[in-house]
Amino acid sequence: MEIRPVTGVFGAEVLGVRLARLTESELADVREAMCRFEVVVFRSQHLSPAEQSEFSRRLGESAETPFVRTMDDHPDVIRVVKEADEGAAFNFGGAWHSDFSFLEHPPSFTILAAVDVPPYGGDTMFASMSAAWRALDHATQESLRALQAVHTARDAYSRRMQPVHSGMRGMMIECDDSANDERRHPLVRRHGETGETVLFFNRAYVRDLDGLDRSEAVELLNFLHAHTTDAVFTYRHRWLSGDVVVWDNRSTQHLALNDYAGFRRELTRTTVAGEVPLPA
Ligand code: SIN
Repeated sequence: MEIRPVTGVFGAEVLGVRLARLTESELADVREAMCRFEVVVFRSQHLSPAEQSEFSRRLGESAETPFVRTMDDHPDVIRVVKEADEGAAFNFGGAWHSDFSFLEHPPSFTILAAVDVPPYGGDTMFASMSAAWRALDHATQESLRALQAVHTARDAYSRRMQPVHSGMRGMMIECDDSANDERRHPLVRRHGETGETVLFFNRAYVRDLDGLDRSEAVELLNFLHAHTTDAVFTYRHRWLSGDVVVWDNRSTQHLALNDYAGFRRELTRTTVAGEVPLPA
């Protein structure tokens, strides 16, 4: 197994392994690479949904998949698909986020496998939340440590958002009132496996900060969004059919770009349940 970093900050390509046939010792090495590099790319894997599901379960129990209907035969696999004629319709994952961060046990890892990708466009961008944390000055770090972030799916999956999702033919998204629930997680989190300190923040689901008045909170949310998505903390993945990308959802945010009107894009996604986020 060979590991080649893809930026000077985070992300790596892992060569010389077949995810569908990993030995226990390869699995341990791959897991360590996923935690250390935060985003890991495996080329030419062509995983079937069953193989993806099995690989995912070897990493841990499946996470809940609220709001998004999974494949009939594979209840832990989501098809992320936009058809060629769906134009500039809503793009699943098209705002910076970390997957389902509003859950009690937000996913530790997400596995995304490319089935059918456009000849250009539809890249996925990632941002390292450990690098974003390390770049803050000490005083800012200390002021953030005390804060609880309020995560909610309200602005993504509440009932008023149903028409936006219903525009997609290939994905079934069912908005409901549970999207209005709020969950508090520490803004500065200790990664459960590496012990690293990370900013557990994403603008899509973190809609408030406890203990600040609204205008202070909005100002800080805007700062955190701009800071954490600065180009210097990002890696942009150009998909090839057969790719599998695994990201550590505890230490990254991501964004699916919507610049491939006229082309079909299909990937399959699984998520692994993570720990309850603890403060750093
Ligand atoms: C997602 O946010 O899980 C989907 C990302 C993508 O389609 O690139």
